Amino acid sequence: MDHFTYQNGVLCAEDVKVSDIVLEVGTPFYCYSTATIERHYKVLASALSGLPATICYAVKANSNQAVIRTLATLGAGADVVSDGELIRALQAGIPAHKIVFSGVGKTEAELALALEKDILQINIESVPELERLNAVAKSLRKTAPVALRINPDIDAGSHDKISTGRRGDKFGIEWPLVHEVFSHATELENIQPIGLAVHIGSQLTALKPFKSAFRKLRDMVDLLREAGHEIQRLDVGGGLGIPYDGSDVPSPSAYGKAVADTLGDLECELLFEPGRMLVGNAGILVTRVVYVKNGTARDFVIIDAAMNDLIRPSLYGARHEIIPIMEAADSEIMTTVDVVGPVCETGDTFATGLRMSPVGQDDLLALRSAGAYGAVMASTYNSRALVPEILVRGSQFAVVRERVNIDALLRHERLPNWLSAAPKA
Ligand code: LLP
Repeated sequence: MDHFTYQNGVLCAEDVKVSDIVLEVGTPFYCYSTATIERHYKVLASALSGLPATICYAVKANSNQAVIRTLATLGAGADVVSDGELIRALQAGIPAHKIVFSGVGKTEAELALALEKDILQINIESVPELERLNAVAKSLRKTAPVALRINPDIDAGSHDKISTGRRGDKFGIEWPLVHEVFSHATELENIQPIGLAVHIGSQLTALKPFKSAFRKLRDMVDLLREAGHEIQRLDVGGGLGIPYDGSDVPSPSAYGKAVADTLGDLECELLFEPGRMLVGNAGILVTRVVYVKNGTARDFVIIDAAMNDLIRPSLYGARHEIIPIMEAADSEIMTTVDVVGPVCETGDTFATGLRMSPVGQDDLLALRSAGAYGAVMASTYNSRALVPEILVRGSQFAVVRERVNIDALLRHERLPNWLSAAPKA
């Protein structure tokens, strides 16, 4: 459920006409709905209410300060994967004691920052990382609270590029090695092993792989406890997928039940790291039709948003529903078009063979479900600006990131002294 609906024929974000935002900031832009973020958070929190749960929002999904703060205000912690995300989370008001640091290649500087800020937990994915953390903690005279991320060898059934829990994926400590690595961690002076973590992938649309992963986590807890180790906390990784194409996905309450059924009686604190399910449907990418180009083979709707703004269709073959800002009149007439961006790659395509009501030059469109992994994955390819981000709340809206245009980009570039003279005309 989201708060992007037509009112009197105009797409509104909550009570704001999207066309009013266009008048202020132009196109393209991302638009987020506070009410949708709040709703998703509350639904998940209530689905987990019977469990000793902390929701650590996966900042990578959407790291805009205003989005993080909206979630911080609701009581969320954060899951971060870089020093940049850690700084963003802290600056947005997430308390350090609710921050978990994940990721397979944390540098010495990142580990040091995490320790200096006294965050809740650092998830460790390899022996060299564990050793390095111990050394960094020693030099800072700290003890690092650690969970070992296990690789349970489970196929999440999601897109290959975002499945992370199969043996051979780069993530986590291989199942047969976990016991030994955990024992080793207990011997390191500046490491405090407190639990285990698992994350098998993103955009999961079935509960079965989650359940299999949680069962394996449980088996490992049993094994480690039998060997006398104390396990106080389990991090169960990212959240559910979202219905990009309107298909069914499990409900948060079914997910909560799956966690309770598999891990509920272990007397462990539970950390959840959802990203997409909190913010995915809370955002749209608003764009204008530059041209409609009719051909003998295909008809193209060329929009002013491109793969550099939203890379998911090019990278994962993802589909984002495309709707008009001015509600289409009820008509039998439908056209079949390809919706493409202006970037010089055939991969810059948002939809192929899409059936939609006719659109014309300068019409406004929205790509739905663009709140997660949209703006955060944007680039300036083709020297295109980073587009603005807008947050709506009720009848108000605010620009929460301004357009980062070519002047701003050029400010970071320097000519070396041997090229400082302008070429002769
Ligand atoms: N925890 C860890 C350790 C993760 O690696 C991720 C996502 C999450 C939590 C959050 O997962 P979520 O609840 O959002 O499913 N760019 C891709 C998604 C990459 C996800 C990477 N890790 C996309 O656009 O689909």
